[in-house]
Amino acid sequence: MIKLDEDFWTERYRQGYTGWDIGYPSTPIVQYLDQIQNKNCRILIPGAGNAYEAAYAWDQGFVGTHILDISKDPLTKFSTNHPNFPQAQIFHQDFFQHQGKYDLIVEQTFFCALDPALREAYCQKMLELLQPSGRLVGLLFGVQFSKQGPPFGGSLEEYQSLFSKYFKIHKLELCINSIAPRRGTEIFINLSAQ
Ligand SMILES: C[S@@+](CC[C@H](N)C(=O)[O-])C[C@H]1O[C@@H](n2cnc3c(N)ncnc32)[C@H](O)[C@@H]1O
Repeated sequence: MIKLDEDFWTERYRQGYTGWDIGYPSTPIVQYLDQIQNKNCRILIPGAGNAYEAAYAWDQGFVGTHILDISKDPLTKFSTNHPNFPQAQIFHQDFFQHQGKYDLIVEQTFFCALDPALREAYCQKMLELLQPSGRLVGLLFGVQFSKQGPPFGGSLEEYQSLFSKYFKIHKLELCINSIAPRRGTEIFINLSAQ
């Protein structure tokens, strides 16, 4: 397995080899954010990349939006394009080193970017970062990919078995409002610590 470290991801951004990047905020996440009344909630988007969902959240008045990525390149680009977004809410960091507490953590093609051996650690870290009533919400690929990842896929059954060990599952089902190119391949999750 190749090392999925900062250099790996930065090289992908530099070569423009970013097939995951849809270029706009993902519809299921937009529609989820649109239902939230409390615009002061603390939101984290780990592995945010170009962070279209963060830009959307910020534009909607979610002042507590934070983004994190192991690669500096997309974060610098985000900062340049969104000069009003607070620097203190942008973390150039490995997710597993991050400290903080959030009401909502948004999952958008981050889980699939990690070595599957880290899936249990991902759950444990998410639990650590969530407020007791916080939610981990977003999208996972519900398919297996024929090529060596990333992205690494999975199935509803696998995710059910993994997440039920750590979270209360509010939703874990085929996503009904995926963007057209991902229709039928995404699973929507809404999980909480308790
Ligand atoms: C598949 S990309 C998705 C980017 C963005 N969420 C999107 O949908 O366009 C995965 C992102 O996770 C970042 N990443 C990978 N491992 C990470 C880690 N351990 N901590 C923080 N970010 C990481 C990569 O740099 C990359 O930006």
